[in-house]
Amino acid sequence: MRLAVLISGRGSNLRSILESERKGSLGKAIVSLIISDKRDAKGLKYSKEYNKKAIILESNSYNSREEYDNQLLKVLHEHDIDLIVLAGFMRILTPFFVNKFINRIVNIHPSLLPAFPGLNAQKQALNHGSKISGCTVHFVSEEVDVGPIILQRAVDISNDDTEESLSQKILKHEHEILPLALKLISEGKISIKERNIIVEE
Ligand code: GAR
Repeated sequence: MRLAVLISGRGSNLRSILESERKGSLGKAIVSLIISDKRDAKGLKYSKEYNKKAIILESNSYNSREEYDNQLLKVLHEHDIDLIVLAGFMRILTPFFVNKFINRIVNIHPSLLPAFPGLNAQKQALNHGSKISGCTVHFVSEEVDVGPIILQRAVDISNDDTEESLSQKILKHEHEILPLALKLISEGKISIKERNIIVEE
């Protein structure tokens, strides 16, 4: 199963996927391509470190979302990509694009969806006074952060947590459940019945 991992920044989730592949714990999945929408994304350094091809597709070179997503589709087809992984990719994809890859786009989000979708999920959880939060791996549907849930992990929020400390706590789990979800998908252990995902671990 050929993966394209899309990033916009630090790339710590990308690194955890690459490290899992290196250790042989990514099942039948192979990272075939890294795509960044930011030329200066820190995570791009992992393409050299793990000897993977990276392509930069910056939005300012395109006139519209549709044009951008068409170019993205072209690149993905040229590289025979089976599954797209959004690992901190901070762009919203058009419904046209999502439907071309339905149930073949996976996203990691730093909250227990459907709570706290969108930006700054950790800050939203703190502002809300939540006692737990966590992270979610889900398939991407047309609406943002709404698609069928594959795996989740919860963390406790303590009174002295800050946005930074909570983000770090959650990130540790992100680095485990995203590669695990990819492994399970690549081994055919995830099936979808309507909105419900059945996971055979
Ligand atoms: C991660 O916490 C990821 O869950 C979040 O961005 C961070 C990227 O970190 N994604 C979203 O908020 C998507 N809505 P990374 O670049 O170090 O993987």
